[in-house]
Amino acid sequence: MDLMQVQYAVVKPFQSQAAKDRVSITETRSSPCRWYCVFGMDGVAGICGMARMLGSSRLRIRGVWVRREYRGKGIGSFMVKTLIRLAQDEPGISSIEACAINPKFYAGLKFKQVSPAGSNGVTFMRRVF
Ligand SMILES: CC(C)(COP(=O)(O)OP(=O)(O)OC[C@H]1O[C@@H](n2cnc3c(N)ncnc32)[C@H](O)[C@@H]1OP(=O)(O)O)[C@@H](O)C(=O)NCCC(=O)NCCS
Repeated sequence: MDLMQVQYAVVKPFQSQAAKDRVSITETRSSPCRWYCVFGMDGVAGICGMARMLGSSRLRIRGVWVRREYRGKGIGSFMVKTLIRLAQDEPGISSIEACAINPKFYAGLKFKQVSPAGSNGVTFMRRVF
């Protein structure tokens, strides 16, 4: 399996499909993001992103989403593990965080819950290196 860095234009068409699963694949000028994909036989199979928190030593995982027909094949965990490795290789980065709608998925990847789930159902998770 490969995780390839892609232009935002590659992931943008999946925005509304991912939104149905409560995953936001968006980019704003104030929070630029690097986007990555795993490709399957018929194109994009999984998407994830990583953004640097301005002025901090943390990176935030964004938009982890696997197309339904590709779920349960290890793509989601492969993507997050690869993002962790990329983050560990970046100078000055000491942790990686995620706003999780699915905390069990991140807990399985050794992220710890930082705060209780908010009213929006999002749990803040962090993995310190
Ligand atoms: C969550 C998601 C990214 C997992 O991707 P995937 O490729 O199916 O996951 P994997 O095959 O790598 O499975 C990884 C582990 O997560 C667990 N897992 C997968 N989907 C899960 C779910 N919905 N809830 C809880 N655990 C889940 C698997 O059981 C597996 O655990 P194991 O390693 O102990 O067997 C995918 O189901 C998805 O896109 N869901 C909708 C969006 C979402 O929830 N994104 C995560 C944002 S927090």
